[in-house]
Amino acid sequence: MERMFGKPIVTQEQMRARIREMGRQISADYAGKDLVLVGVLKGAYAFYADLARAIRIPVRVDFIVVTSSGSRSKRAAKVKLATELTEEIAGKDVLLVEDIVDSGLTAQHLVKALTKKRPRSINVCTLLSKPDQRVADVQVAYVGFTVPNQYIVGYGLDYRQKYRNLPYLAVLDQKELLGE
Ligand code: IMP
Ligand code: MG
Repeated sequence: MERMFGKPIVTQEQMRARIREMGRQISADYAGKDLVLVGVLKGAYAFYADLARAIRIPVRVDFIVVTSSGSRSKRAAKVKLATELTEEIAGKDVLLVEDIVDSGLTAQHLVKALTKKRPRSINVCTLLSKPDQRVADVQVAYVGFTVPNQYIVGYGLDYRQKYRNLPYLAVLDQKELLGE
């Protein structure tokens, strides 16, 4: 990790500034509300920790672990909730915190599953969005950065479970993938 890995597309400084803005926006939008931040693990862990601390209203924190298997186009059928929420969300305002919304199938599945628990409201917040890849009709209320259709790692995002600990976002190039 000493050498630069991948081609950085969002620097730590850019990320810090954008997350500060998002925190400000969310604090204003949810002032006086009973906000529960639901992080989608594992990918959202780094973003979640920084976003939560950029929010200036009291929030509850909770997490769900999602596993997806099979081909990416069939992800909808394969998205599984591996854990349950520990907080009661009925009557509360839920913000689902994602690392990246790609096809949107994961977010759509999660919104549907959590809506059954009767929150007062539910919105999606994601660090990254790849709108070119969108298949599902899912509303994303907060987007950190819109990115092109390239494979991104770092800051929580993985390639085969690795590189989540890179402190910045980078595009993996073919040579590096072949070295795996
Ligand atoms: P979706 O269901 O297609 O929106 O995919 C969402 C999930 O796919 C994310 O939570 C990530 O785990 C994974 N994913 C999609 N694109 C990327 C990427 O560029 N890098 C790393 N993971 C990705
Ligand atoms: Mg992943």
